Amino acid sequence: MSEPRQILVTSALPYANGSIHLGHMLEYIQTDMWVRFQKLLGNQCIYVCADDAHGSAIMLRAEKEGITPEQLIANVQAEHSGDFADFLVDFDNFHSTHSEENRELSSLIYTRLRDAGHIATRSVTQYFDPEKGMFLADRFIKGTCPKCAAEDQYGDNCEKCGATYAPTELKNPKSAISGATPELRDSQHFFFKLPDFQAMLQQWTRSGTLQEAVSNKLAEWLDSGLQEWDISRDAPYFGFEIPDEPGKYFYVWLDAPIGYMASFKNLCARRPELDFDAFWKEDSTAELYHFIGKDIVNFHALFWPAMLEGSGLRKPTGINVHGYLTVNGAKMSKSRGTFIKARTYLDHLAPEYLRYYYASKLGRGVDDLDLNLDDFVQKVNSDLVGKVVNIASRCAGFIHKGNDGVLVAGDAAPELSEAFLNAAPSIAEAYEGRDFARAMREIMALADRANAWIADKAPWALAKQEGKQDEVQAICAQGINLFRHLVIFLKPVLPVLAADAEAFLNVAPLTWNDHLSRLENHKLNPFKALMSRIEPAKVEAMVAASKEDLAATQPAAPAGNGELAKDPLSAEIEFDTFAAVDLRVALIVKAEAVEGADKLLRLTLDIGDERRNVFSGIKSAYPDPAKLEGRLTMMVANLKPRKMRFGVSEGMVMAAGPGGEEIYLLSPDSGAKPGQRIK
Ligand code: 2FM
Ligand code: ZN
Repeated sequence: MSEPRQILVTSALPYANGSIHLGHMLEYIQTDMWVRFQKLLGNQCIYVCADDAHGSAIMLRAEKEGITPEQLIANVQAEHSGDFADFLVDFDNFHSTHSEENRELSSLIYTRLRDAGHIATRSVTQYFDPEKGMFLADRFIKGTCPKCAAEDQYGDNCEKCGATYAPTELKNPKSAISGATPELRDSQHFFFKLPDFQAMLQQWTRSGTLQEAVSNKLAEWLDSGLQEWDISRDAPYFGFEIPDEPGKYFYVWLDAPIGYMASFKNLCARRPELDFDAFWKEDSTAELYHFIGKDIVNFHALFWPAMLEGSGLRKPTGINVHGYLTVNGAKMSKSRGTFIKARTYLDHLAPEYLRYYYASKLGRGVDDLDLNLDDFVQKVNSDLVGKVVNIASRCAGFIHKGNDGVLVAGDAAPELSEAFLNAAPSIAEAYEGRDFARAMREIMALADRANAWIADKAPWALAKQEGKQDEVQAICAQGINLFRHLVIFLKPVLPVLAADAEAFLNVAPLTWNDHLSRLENHKLNPFKALMSRIEPAKVEAMVAASKEDLAATQPAAPAGNGELAKDPLSAEIEFDTFAAVDLRVALIVKAEAVEGADKLLRLTLDIGDERRNVFSGIKSAYPDPAKLEGRLTMMVANLKPRKMRFGVSEGMVMAAGPGGEEIYLLSPDSGAKPGQRIK
């Protein structure tokens, strides 16, 4: 047997100012399944994470809540840890970037980079909020787009025309924190000289450490030449002061990945068998993998390996990148109730349902993954309850009744046993390569074969016949052995099912190699239901509660049952009925004629946190639809989506007038912002 591998694994560190949602969970579940697989094989695999606790967003949020940043991050850490534990994400350590270990390691790496000549300093001119007394990050400045004159745009890009620019180019800039007009001020900044590592990165990003699509994306940046990276921020800032530079702080993204090391170091203090340096020294033979989303590739596959190389430390063995989560085919939406927090899910459904669904859809690539809620119910019920658990529940009763719970010896289906044995290397290879979807397909194909075999043998029919008891016992013992194999193969995905099955099977915790053996002359414990079906009503309740989450954070959210009176022109309605209509200010981002439709325009509307596609019969009044672009109007945002010949219409814009050329789209006064509710 080969020596166990030493592997250190991380997931991206969640920001310490918000809740975990199902989009985050995709990554933690993916990583956790991979780590559990490694542990099942007997490898030494350590999984660490932490909260990403620094930066101005956290400082300002704490201020708004009237607490210290330390209190805020402690509260959030408790919430995050609970969510992860309840989703069965089994970190070896969950730490914080605001920790002594991280301070020391950040200082160490920075001073090594500085002493090796990889840090530059120069003066930077930036907007400063004179009321708040702080420099403003781009997202804290708003103003008029210098290209298209759209108002209320952020400091680095225009959401209307897509232009990118420097905040100093914005017209009429305002601080989004205090509303004050910002002033330009100079200050000394520290830069990490990323171009020093161009050649190394060119080679490293093509050395098998990354998925091909990721290497190709990075090649675009690398080919256009790397820029020096600004790693300092001026006080006030919640973070670590830069050594020997009072009043200057490390930018949050400098110390965030070092947080991976810090969490591991913190763990090493509790686990003497772990040698921190052995994992991080330049020539370490341990493996290091970071699981991340595709939005933060540059930090992990350019800046981070360069920082490690420049400070004489090892680089990652692999960066495993995944795509985004969509729900029911669209970006998660608060108004549709598909922006689902981890805790809201857990209030209604068991974690293993989602773990299995994600596994069944997660491949090696960076494609987005869709959580289709109908498919979720159908797949979990059919595969886990209908196929896997069903085998045990079909066989256990006969063994308890007919043989006092003891599995007889002998292999009643050698071909099937061999098929299970032969499938193991391929399933293991799929897990190793993070092709969980393939692993699940292969496991379910085995479950199908086992069920078909049992159905063919029909022990329930034999049990009614004289003299067939031995045959019944042989079939059912075989069924339980096949079930045990499926449990071993699924254990990285379904640890609770596996633990419950181990209790029923009356065995020690199963390892991967246990699939090489079978249970014979072995007494089972009484059988208890291992998993129940998902009731669709629970999913509906979760979606409804996700809408309530929104109501809780936005006091102006509509109440009521959403039913409108049949003739709203004549019938009086209750206030609640009116309040149930979600009226919003909407920005018309795009307006275009619809081919094949005489009266319709297709409108793309921005309502703050999402974009909507709406078909509206206003073409007769707006023959040149492009003129509508950039204009604000009002829409009913919670109208049930309507399927039309040309696509789905997701709401309705409001207009007055008799029709024809006389249709007048309603507009709010200037100053209203997309997404604001109309009350
Ligand atoms: O994008 C994010 O949510 C960051 N908090 C991830 C940090 S990962 C690591 F580098 F620390
Ligand atoms: Zn613009």
